[in-house]
Amino acid sequence: MLKLGVNIDHVATVRQARLGIEPSPMKAADECEKAGCFGITAHLREDRRHIIDSDIVALAKQVENLNMEMAVTDEMVDIALANKPNSVCLVPEKREELTTEGGLDVIGIKDKLSTAISRFQENGILVSLFIDPEEDQIRMAAELGAEYIELHTGTFANADGEEQLTELDRLIEGAKLAHNLGIKVNAGHGIDYVNIELIKKIPHLVELNIGHSIVSRSIFVGMRQAVKEMIDLMADYTG
Ligand code: PXP
Repeated sequence: MLKLGVNIDHVATVRQARLGIEPSPMKAADECEKAGCFGITAHLREDRRHIIDSDIVALAKQVENLNMEMAVTDEMVDIALANKPNSVCLVPEKREELTTEGGLDVIGIKDKLSTAISRFQENGILVSLFIDPEEDQIRMAAELGAEYIELHTGTFANADGEEQLTELDRLIEGAKLAHNLGIKVNAGHGIDYVNIELIKKIPHLVELNIGHSIVSRSIFVGMRQAVKEMIDLMADYTG
């Protein structure tokens, strides 16, 4: 069964608009779990624009399966090791970006990654590398011994027509290669209630990480219903 990880960053985005306590990402996480999602993802960014340190502390205690999304910096590695999420998803991060743009250059930072991956694995934390569906990046991710890659679906999500189908083919080939190399495959970024139908054509997927579309829909139908609707759409995935 294809698992759903709900990214609750944008619940925190609304809270941070007033620097208050509502809406609570912890309450949102609870609703997502009650709706039947597999896990919760939260991205602690360097600028703390949505999720803040105390959220990670609270979520790590509360949530069944916490995936901490993070840049590979000494600060973030230390925070993750202190809180012991079930998994980390390592992403590139630029201060000025609106959201994560592009996958990790696994080849360019392989030494730094190798050290971080070992530290996580020694502490029982699973590692996922967020990468574009590029052959050399996928091969290096497997060589580094990460348990998962998360294929970046953002380019696919932002395209349409023929261009989108070309991007889908790249994702399909990337997933097949990763599977053949023995690395598990997740996917995320820009997945919504419509493009999920094409996403389901990608083979070997274990988990989808979806945030913006679910949090957006939850404004109108509530978090539990928004999560349930996505789980229903994912249910006929055959791999
Ligand atoms: N996966 C990763 C690695 C991401 O950076 C994001 C965005 O925070 C997501 C999944 C979720 O993307 P979206 O909010 O577009 O569903």
